[in-house]
Amino acid sequence: MNGPTREFWNERFVTGNIPWDRGEANPQLLQWLADDMLAAGQTIIVPGCGQGWEVAALAAVGLQVTGIDFAPQALALCRRLLERDGTHANLVDADVLHWQPTAPVDAVFEQTCLCALYPDYWTRYAAQLHAWLKPGGKLLALFLQAPRASSAEGFIEGPPYHCDINAMRALFPATLWEWPKPPYPRIENRRIEREELAVVLIRK
Ligand SMILES: C[S@@+](CC[C@H](N)C(=O)[O-])C[C@H]1O[C@@H](n2cnc3c(N)ncnc32)[C@H](O)[C@@H]1O
Repeated sequence: MNGPTREFWNERFVTGNIPWDRGEANPQLLQWLADDMLAAGQTIIVPGCGQGWEVAALAAVGLQVTGIDFAPQALALCRRLLERDGTHANLVDADVLHWQPTAPVDAVFEQTCLCALYPDYWTRYAAQLHAWLKPGGKLLALFLQAPRASSAEGFIEGPPYHCDINAMRALFPATLWEWPKPPYPRIENRRIEREELAVVLIRK
């Protein structure tokens, strides 16, 4: 497997080396909830959920949440968060490139899972997201902007791997996904000095 392994990610959580973790839910998710982009009772998957601040925020407002991660320590931390809040989510120890839900869901919240995958696996991951969603389902995506000077010489460096908007259009083509018109909100993550482009795609 090219790129970071399950052991690499698990070690990050074991040692607390998780600089991308805001220590709270992404403000854009709270904005989407305030905008009624999601509703209580709907089903939602959070792939590569990590410690799961967003899993907890979604569960707290009554969504049926499935958080997936292949790092056992990430899931242990997420479980602790849910226990703290007295809420429930379905936590699955699985590889997002292979796992399938029992039934298609209403929404997927994609935050820093795509940029954690080596780009060779992006088309497989995009196909998974499409398969997981019902027609009309929403992909709430935060595409991490992480350009690197080395890419000018052809190097693929990460994680995080840069989620350039042109690559995103190729990965989530307009034949399969409905795109909103730009400009898209840019959400800052001060801890890693990066920004995310917030885009809600509708699965056709
Ligand atoms: C950069 S972290 C982001 C965690 C969380 N989404 C957040 O924003 O705080 C990437 C997460 O994806 C998980 N991950 C990476 N590749 C995965 C895969 N193939 N299957 C399942 N989880 C994966 C890692 O274990 C890690 O928790």
